[in-house]
Amino acid sequence: MKEVLRHIFERKRAYAKLPLFEWMRSAPLAPADRLAFYPCMAHFIMTFGDLNKFVLREQHEGDLYQEMVNNHTLEDDHHWPWYLEDFTKLGFDVERAGTDWMRFLWGEDTKQNRILSAKLTGMIKGTKGLERLVIIEAIEETGNVLFGEILPLAQAIEKETGVQLRYCGEFHFNLESGHAVNADHSALARAGITDIERAHFKRQVDDVFAAFAEWTHELLRYALANPTNSRAINAKPSSRSSTWRRTELVPDSVPESQTG
Ligand SMILES: [Fe+2]
Ligand SMILES: [Fe+2]
Repeated sequence: MKEVLRHIFERKRAYAKLPLFEWMRSAPLAPADRLAFYPCMAHFIMTFGDLNKFVLREQHEGDLYQEMVNNHTLEDDHHWPWYLEDFTKLGFDVERAGTDWMRFLWGEDTKQNRILSAKLTGMIKGTKGLERLVIIEAIEETGNVLFGEILPLAQAIEKETGVQLRYCGEFHFNLESGHAVNADHSALARAGITDIERAHFKRQVDDVFAAFAEWTHELLRYALANPTNSRAINAKPSSRSSTWRRTELVPDSVPESQTG
């Protein structure tokens, strides 16, 4: 299994070089504007909680790896409220008609979000705990790359404006860095597998990274087509517009201790 883990890290290194991440690192834009893709990832981020609850989590008698999967899902199934919290704080919470929202979330510009959830569901269905852990590990490493690039932008925004971002910032990043890496890595590294399983797991890893790569391309396309302008704060958002015009950054209204 160590070879499968090495394979995940090779894929991760290549994933970190994708154009979205290069753009996030080096676009000549204010940090907040390098998060212009944020609304575009809504469908997948919101669905990820359900993927944990309804797809990854299952009762398999006597499968200790599935128990690890289940514990993992209990940690990962409730992060989406923080995504929504930052959605507001980043100024994306502008009024739109309900049908505009649905057109956006189920439209052409966001289809890789839905394809990603569908592909992951298909891959996970029918697998045992050990294979699920491999898939989770690959998913977590894609997340580590994305959130690792978002973090310095969130820190810069916080420094500049005082707005604390829980999903984009250290709070979520530290939580994510803690849970996959420690327990699951060592259990995975110890697992003995056959040559056939090894080859199959590597293919699964490739498929996870390939599906997420398509998603990052969609996020970048969206960011380039819908630039925000954090300098032009207070620009009146148009409720019928097909794109977001950012409102000004919104500080915390409720102390974090009260929101869990
Ligand atoms: Fe998370
Ligand atoms: Fe996670």
